[in-house]
Parts: sequence; C-alpha cells; structure tokens
Amino acid sequence: MRILGIESSCDETAAAIVEDGRRILSNVIASQADEHKQYGGVVPELASRRHCENILPVVRKALDDAGMTIGDVDGIAVTYAPGLIGALLVGVSFAKGLAMMSGKPLIPVHHTEGHAAANYLVHPDLKPPYLGIIVSGGHTRIAEILDYTTFRTVGKTRDDAAGECFDKCARAMGFPYPGGVHVDQAAQRGDASAFRLPRIKMEGNPYDFSFSGLKTYIVNLLHNAEQCHKTVNCDDLAAALQKDIAETVTAKTIAAAKELGYRTIALSGGVSANSGVRSCLEAACRENGFAFYMPPVSLCGDNAAMIAAQGYYNYLAGITADETLNAVASKELRGESA
Ligand code: KG4
Ligand code: ZN
Repeated sequence: MRILGIESSCDETAAAIVEDGRRILSNVIASQADEHKQYGGVVPELASRRHCENILPVVRKALDDAGMTIGDVDGIAVTYAPGLIGALLVGVSFAKGLAMMSGKPLIPVHHTEGHAAANYLVHPDLKPPYLGIIVSGGHTRIAEILDYTTFRTVGKTRDDAAGECFDKCARAMGFPYPGGVHVDQAAQRGDASAFRLPRIKMEGNPYDFSFSGLKTYIVNLLHNAEQCHKTVNCDDLAAALQKDIAETVTAKTIAAAKELGYRTIALSGGVSANSGVRSCLEAACRENGFAFYMPPVSLCGDNAAMIAAQGYYNYLAGITADETLNAVASKELRGESA
C-alpha cells in the first residue's frame, strides 16, 4: 500500500510517498528556514504564504520522484495537528481537495505520532510495544507506544520543549535560527565542566520535563555578562547546555522504562539530531541492556515520509477523515484529553 504524506505544520513544506509504512519511495522537503532566519524565528504569516506557494510543486515532485501519479496512491495522509494553525491549514486544505478530487482516503496524522514513526522507515525490526521519547522544537514527551496507533503519555514538558530551549539559548549566544544545530557544533568544541547549570527539580510526575528555567538562566547569564562587558565562552556554555538537556532526557527515559518494564526505547523528533542526546541515551541503553532505536539525522526533523508511515498504520486501524477535517493548533495524542 502506497501512502502520500503531506506535512506543513511549521516551516517545512513536505510531501513523500511511503510503501507499507516502511519503505520511502520519495521524500521532498522545501524548507523556509533561510527566509525566517532574518527574523530570528518562524513568522507564522510568512510560513502560511510560503506553504501556499510550495505545496503544489512539492507534492508533484514527490509523485514524479516515485514515478507515480495520484491515481497510483492508496491514501493521502496529512498532518492536521499540532502546529501553526495557518500553516497546518494549507496542508489540510490541499489534502482534502486532493482526496475529494481523486476519491482516495484521507488520513489524519498527529505530528508527534508522525515523528515517532520516522523510526519505522529505517528499522524494519522495530515493532510496538516500546517506549518512545519524542523531543522536538514544540514538544518533549515520553510515551508508551502500545501499538501502532495507541499512545499513552508518561511525561511531557510543562513549559518549553527542549528544542525551544536550544533555539532561544542559541539566539542569546548569537547563533542564527534554527539554533539547535549550532549549539551542537559549538558544544563539540567546548568543555561542559566550565559551567554548573541549575538542574530543575519538580514536584509531581517525575517523568515530566521543564526547560524554561534553564533557558532563562542561560539568557540571563549572557545578558548580565554583556552588561558587565565580560565575554562568555559560548563553546563551553553550549557544551554545558547540551550535556544538561541530554542527561535530563536520558535519566527520565531510562527511569520510565525501568518502572514500566520496557526494554526497547526509540528516540525521535528534531532534537533527536543532537549528537549529545543521541550518544547519551544510546550509552545508557547499552549499559542497561535495552534495545535502542533512533532515526538517521536526515529523518529527525520535519518531513512527510514519517507522516506517510504513521498514515499507513492509521489507515490500517480505520483512522480516516472526511471533508470536515480541520487543522488543530494544540492537541494531545490519540485518545488523550488535554
Ligand atoms: O521536529 P522539529 O523539526 O520541529 C518541531 O516539530 O518542532 O524540531 C525542530 C527543533 C528545533 O528546535 C531545532 O533547533 C532542533 O529541533 N534541532 C536541534 C538539532 N537539530 C535540530 N537541536 C539540537 N541539536 C541539533 N543538532
Ligand atoms: Zn516536528
């Protein structure tokens, strides 16, 4: 079964064809990052306009690259939530029109569930149940992936996502948007022990995350240094920040796996491209004898292949939509209330 995936939740217009949820036939991404860079972050209105311009050529290229026409696809999967509402609406409206015109089933996909499905594209042996850790610019979440379409959140961020913390700290350090990757590069030159960053202690669910305190601490540290005309070694600071986030993500994920009895962990989301997060969690899984999966860096960020992969499993589970499908800016995982 061949699914066309469409993704437009933030600043990437993407389309892909995936066979049986596992094999990429084409994968096209038109990134707007260079344009948003001059504003230091994504400008929602601009993102929507660019999606409108890009969506038709991107979908056409995905079909062309796979050597297919719309008549050859078995379903159209689209990210409908969560994300920038105007951006999501472009993909959802386009997918609805295409589904109506072609008579193909329309399959709604939750963006976070899509990130988790990126692992299916490269790990044929990965099958639920397992514990997912999804770390992106908008979300940080540990979730039991009970079967391909049943998710149960174990813990999530109470404020900023890890990617938001990376990006805002990167901006304060003078790196361009999106800053996460620049922090990663700087961290590899730096000495993490040069700074002692505060570790957030939280009451309640031990698997929840909070990154806003760390973000504020670093932004204030840089601001105060600037006011006192002191220089800060940003390589060292980046290394300390990356170590802090990697260790926090790893400690909570391993503890949750132990408590819930999972021996398989899969990392995903844009921040899963981070070298510190990847190596820290991989090492901890090895130490504990857990099977560990993560996507290649090329499939960590937003793409439509992951949406098509999850779309395939949604379709098998009977999760389809009609022309009343709407975009939703903020939405919990399937079956969970906000
Ligand atoms: O999943 P994603 O592409 O978009 C959302 O769904 O939010 O994640 C984007 C986030 C951004 O915050 C970006 O800076 C971060 O992933 N990111 C990284 C790295 N590559 C991307 N953060 C740290 N290190 C990286 N190498
Ligand atoms: Zn994403």
